Amino acid sequence: MTKPEARKRIDQLRKEIDRQRYLYHVLDKPEISDAALDSLKHELEQIEKQFPELITPDSPTQRVGGKPLDKFKKVRHKTPMLSLEDAFSPEELESWRERIQKLAPDKKIDYFAELKVDGFAISLVYKNGILSEGSTRGDGKIGEDVSQNLKTISSIPLRIEIHRKLASQEITEKVQALIHKGEIEARGEVYMTAKSFEKINQEREKKGEPLYANPRNTAAGSIRQLDSKIAGSRQLNFLAYDIITDLGQKTHKEEHQIAECLGFKTDNGQYSKNLKEVIDFYEKVKREREKLPYQIDGIVVSVNNNNIFEKLGVVGKAPRGAIAFKFPGKEATTIVENIIVQVGRTGALTPVAFLKPVRLGGTTITRATLHNEDEIKRLDVRIGDTVIIQRAGDVIPDIVKVLKKMRTGHEKKFQMPEKCPVCGAKVIKPAGEAIHRCSNNQCGARQKEQIEHFISKKGFDIVGLGPQIINQLMDEGLVNDSADIFALKEGDLAPLERFAEKSAKNLVEAIEKSKKIPLAKFIYALGIRHVGEETAIMFSQEIRNTKSEIRNINDLIKFYNKFSLENLQNIQDIGPVVGQSIYDYFHNRHNLKLLEKLDKANLRIQLPKFQVLSLKFKDKIFVLTGELESMTRDEAKEKIRGLGGDISGSVSKETDFVVVGKEPGGKFDKAKKLGVKIIDEKEFLKIMKT
Ligand code: IVH
Repeated sequence: MTKPEARKRIDQLRKEIDRQRYLYHVLDKPEISDAALDSLKHELEQIEKQFPELITPDSPTQRVGGKPLDKFKKVRHKTPMLSLEDAFSPEELESWRERIQKLAPDKKIDYFAELKVDGFAISLVYKNGILSEGSTRGDGKIGEDVSQNLKTISSIPLRIEIHRKLASQEITEKVQALIHKGEIEARGEVYMTAKSFEKINQEREKKGEPLYANPRNTAAGSIRQLDSKIAGSRQLNFLAYDIITDLGQKTHKEEHQIAECLGFKTDNGQYSKNLKEVIDFYEKVKREREKLPYQIDGIVVSVNNNNIFEKLGVVGKAPRGAIAFKFPGKEATTIVENIIVQVGRTGALTPVAFLKPVRLGGTTITRATLHNEDEIKRLDVRIGDTVIIQRAGDVIPDIVKVLKKMRTGHEKKFQMPEKCPVCGAKVIKPAGEAIHRCSNNQCGARQKEQIEHFISKKGFDIVGLGPQIINQLMDEGLVNDSADIFALKEGDLAPLERFAEKSAKNLVEAIEKSKKIPLAKFIYALGIRHVGEETAIMFSQEIRNTKSEIRNINDLIKFYNKFSLENLQNIQDIGPVVGQSIYDYFHNRHNLKLLEKLDKANLRIQLPKFQVLSLKFKDKIFVLTGELESMTRDEAKEKIRGLGGDISGSVSKETDFVVVGKEPGGKFDKAKKLGVKIIDEKEFLKIMKT
């Protein structure tokens, strides 16, 4: 082969290899197999070996690492490489919008939103179309020349040329001029795919080498190696997101288009005419992010119009015109406030850590499962410890690590109980098993039946809570008894299977609503033997007839405590069997403990309506505050109930009237604040009469 022949062939090979690189790495549409592409590269290598003087820095063969460097050369960035402010919620994004809108009051602002790749920022400078310098961000002003390493990344073009038609004639002309004589700078992110990362770690595991923590750090570490063979073996990738050189681009969207036309890979950004569209994009990306081959930690939202972007300027190290709208993190730290044992359906005892509430994965987390005693020992977690919690997929969070350096010496060790916290039976740990169990094999199942009875239609009737969900909640150790239902938070439910955030919110709302419950339904829900719906209604009427004030569970316990067994059995319509059963229920230690727990849930138990004389106040809620002149407060309440109305102890938006007497209390202020109708005694008497 003569030199001119070699030159011709080399040119052909390079062009084709480059075209294939573009098809494969940028467009994801390879035309030929990897083996065929390797074969082209091999031929090029052979010819270049024969004619080394024909090797140029942009030849595809130059991607393979050269000699290791002693140290990196420093590079001063012509334009600083900035970072971004973070937003974690639509509200924070909205305040960003308000801030920038104030600085550009008469401008209509639109946006460009794109993926925030979890990688390593780099700058690429092309001189006369050929990659001349690739550098790290460094401190933003001065970075390191990592060109050798970057050249090993196939999705970084070594030479830029126009692959597709550019946006405008003006841009095309500028690009062409600079490709022939001048400089073009592009910036973007080097990253590693999840697959490559796994492969590297698998290989390390085989060799007994320590594993890498995550793709981001591995990518960054590879780029900062002096021996470029390492970067070359790591299958790194590159996504461009910025064209720094002024090519006449007017918008950020256009910059993406230019980058693509010049042979760079870019992500699927989206033009958004307002923040609603940005948020929709964010939600969509968040839903679909697991399908991406690489990790992203949010989206980057930029003011699309470059002119406005520039005018907004820089604050600190971040441009005002762009913001990172981050996904909620998957790890957080918090404090273990308590460790409580829950009894599952099968009688298995699960220790659960009750945590200081902390935001994680978009919800507030208040507990984490500790699985079993061995796990507690393994982590050496104690009450009072500061811990790292993690949400991995759709499960209740785990404690992954205890920050032992943060211990104060006041932390308490936890011990599995010897007696079942539900039924008091002995706790056993079958040999060879990690799980402690209640020795009463009826315990868990009976508990489940009781909870199902409690939430059934005739009881608390909680919309959206059925036997299947109860199973799940018991299995996860979230619910041990009926009272636990009222402690459920959105953050407990959202991670569970079948629970989207929306339904978690709905269920928590339904539970809250169910706290207001007629006395008869409450008595039925307790599941006292022989006390069905009819008996419960009858009993609640009896209570009403005694004119006892029962608003909460404590009142109810006090009420029952007044009765001897004989008294109860002698009540008309009750009789000896039901009387005995009720008596037993209120004298059982476990039942009283449950009632105490229920009492803490602030249930609002409603007595049956007084004998209703008229329905004038039907469905109207009254709140009384201050002293009335013409009647006592109890008389006033009786009158309201007699006219079909309801009394509430506190003012809310649902309150219809606040009756204000002399020296009213805080309820008066609250009523004013909420704009609830306020009437004085005179008006109150008037509306009762008319
Ligand atoms: S724009 C002014 N776009 O996130 C800085 N950055 O937190 C220009 N990043 O240092 C950044 N994907 O390393 C931009 N599509 C994207 C990005 C992105 C990842 C990184 C970049 C930057 C950091 C800022």
